[in-house]
Amino acid sequence: MRTVVVGAGGMLGQDVARISPGAVGYMHAQLDVTDRDAVGEAIGRDDLVINCAAWTDVDRAEEHEHEALRINRDGARNVAEAAGAVLYVSSDYVFDGAKREPYLESDPVNPLSAYGRTKLAGERATAEANPRHFIVRSSWLFGAAGKNFVETMLGLGPEVRVVDDQVGSPTFTGHLAEALAALAQGDDYGIHHMAASGSCSWFEFAREIFARTGSDTVVQPCATSEFPRPAPRPAYSVLGSEHGHRLPSWQDGLDAYLGVRV
Ligand SMILES: NC(=O)c1ccc[n+]([C@@H]2O[C@H](COP(=O)([O-])OP(=O)(O)OC[C@H]3O[C@@H](n4cnc5c(N)ncnc54)[C@H](OP(=O)(O)O)[C@@H]3O)[C@@H](O)[C@H]2O)c1
Repeated sequence: MRTVVVGAGGMLGQDVARISPGAVGYMHAQLDVTDRDAVGEAIGRDDLVINCAAWTDVDRAEEHEHEALRINRDGARNVAEAAGAVLYVSSDYVFDGAKREPYLESDPVNPLSAYGRTKLAGERATAEANPRHFIVRSSWLFGAAGKNFVETMLGLGPEVRVVDDQVGSPTFTGHLAEALAALAQGDDYGIHHMAASGSCSWFEFAREIFARTGSDTVVQPCATSEFPRPAPRPAYSVLGSEHGHRLPSWQDGLDAYLGVRV
């Protein structure tokens, strides 16, 4: 089977395309997943498609849910219908964050935000359209090919306040890409959770970023309520896996990222 990456120009998509030898990558400008005919022409039954194309602006989705649905649900359906097998990348934001221990694949979903609803709708559309589907939920991505929290923090100073009441697992896209590519070679279809091992709050993540880069920026913890955002986020979205997936720790991911960032 040929491997095809859609959304290949995105933060995760670039890493997936880079580590998949022989893969064909389509960037947004080359293939719009909402164009069903174009998807049908570009993708065939001999293709295993890793779908990294998405509307990812969590806050803007609150006011533009319909547009986000067109990409995250309808685009996902187009890709899944055309492909021989498909891997859809989904999100920890399908959960409401009420749990205090890692969410497993079989846990009930309950998205709080429009973005989370569109990702859940994409999971379902993918599963309905193609029995050979992998749904991989990950969380708090940072990678060399995109705007991310690490770069945002390193661009701030000399003092920053960062929320300490949202806990998750910051996941390096280089590590996730390797795990996605390995999973896609097999036939263990269904829902999979793949995120960095360990967990922290955004404040703890920021503190580690400044410590590991030798920055003298001072970081103080604060509450989410002090930084109101359009989209609600789960207070806790650590992912565990009934399949036993175990990625490197978020600290190892941070080190790996700092080694490759440009
Ligand atoms: N970032 C996170 O923290 C996070 C956490 C959990 C899960 N995820 C999931 O991981 C996946 C990858 O996210 P990412 O962080 O790599 O986001 P990203 O950098 O925003 O990548 C998404 C890519 O999709 C492309 N795209 C948007 N609309 C498209 C369309 N209609 N047709 C084809 N391509 C389209 C974008 O192109 P343009 O920029 O040109 O529009 C972009 O290259 C997504 O499914 C996301 O939901 C992300």
